[in-house]
Amino acid sequence: MERAPFLTKGSGRIDLNKVDLSTPALVWDMGCLEKRINSMSRFASEQGCELLYSIKASSVVPVLEHIVGRVAGFSCSSLFEAKLASQTLRGNGTVHLTTPGFRPDEIDAVADVCDYVALNSLSQWKRFGAQINERTSCGLRLNPGTSIVNDQRYDPCRKNSKLGVPIDELAVQYERRPESLSNLNGLHIHVACGNKSFAQIDDVISKIETRLGDLLHQIDWFNLGGGFYFDKILKTAPFRNSVTRLKDKYSHNVIIEPGTAFVKDAGLLVCSVIDLFQSDGKSIAVLDSSVNHMPEVFSYQTQPPVAGATPDGAYRYILAGNTCLAGDIFGEYNFSAPLQLGERIIFRKRGAYTHAQSHWFNGINLPTIYTVSDDGTIKLQQDFIFEDFAHRCAV
Ligand SMILES: Cc1ncc(COP(=O)(O)O)c(C=O)c1O
Repeated sequence: MERAPFLTKGSGRIDLNKVDLSTPALVWDMGCLEKRINSMSRFASEQGCELLYSIKASSVVPVLEHIVGRVAGFSCSSLFEAKLASQTLRGNGTVHLTTPGFRPDEIDAVADVCDYVALNSLSQWKRFGAQINERTSCGLRLNPGTSIVNDQRYDPCRKNSKLGVPIDELAVQYERRPESLSNLNGLHIHVACGNKSFAQIDDVISKIETRLGDLLHQIDWFNLGGGFYFDKILKTAPFRNSVTRLKDKYSHNVIIEPGTAFVKDAGLLVCSVIDLFQSDGKSIAVLDSSVNHMPEVFSYQTQPPVAGATPDGAYRYILAGNTCLAGDIFGEYNFSAPLQLGERIIFRKRGAYTHAQSHWFNGINLPTIYTVSDDGTIKLQQDFIFEDFAHRCAV
């Protein structure tokens, strides 16, 4: 039976079941990415924020190249990401970095390549702040201590968090030794993860205003982080109120740095069925991919959406990865027709944290990277060969 088409989301509407690809493949729907960039830009300009793209979600360079010039810069999590950002931006945007910890021998290179750095602790501020501030704008990551994420594994404000200076600690430091923070240029918070509402953000900002008071008048920028589906949230008032206060009352340059909101919908993992058999009365379809290609599926036991799977389909399969790990399973899915050997399985919404976290366990090759443009052009961007695997194995 002919598979229903799976069409890209841009204006081109190309059928990914038909295009010539070598699987497993990470396919970037550039028309969809374009729509996401436009929507995020519109959101940021309506709200009066400076927009960055957080490259941790995906640092695939053709994707970065497409975003350059449409955002104020890239936000990064390490020296390597910052170098890649700087190399890709080529001066057409700023490089921002925050990370839980720097090694002392990285600081010079960090200061060379970054425009903005948010240090994670007062300990690092004391040791590295002055050196970084000589060449960049240095601030602190603040932990406001108000959880707005239910799952502890993703909650930056969980108890005993390692992320950011606790708000009370910063307040006490400012009360007792204000001079130690006299060259603080900005504050960074990142409190959300996949949040679909701004309901609590205004309370978080109010708490910061109440607790830190005058310190806010002293700084130039306030980075509100990522973690929200910013432009897909309908009730924007709490967010707008926060941004307006930070801008009007304290003259802050208010920054946001989403990752997922830009790229999630634009990436697809296209696999092929390489074996079909029964196990204890259930049908197993083994794919030429693995949860190693999207580790969050295993770590967090989520089930990625599959194109064409339908809850009322009569044919139910366990879609399994091809490593030795018994739990290398994507989930159970129903289809309206039996799966065939060689048939494509397309995992949707794989643009964020898929390529970035994929690895080579069992020597299963990484997905080949393609871009599909609205005019139908399919471009092979990167394939991985045995020598790439061997290089990583210190051959
Ligand atoms: C500091 C920081 N900024 C931005 C992001 C991007 O978040 P998201 O991809 O959920 O928008 C993250 C994600 O972990 C983060 O830790």
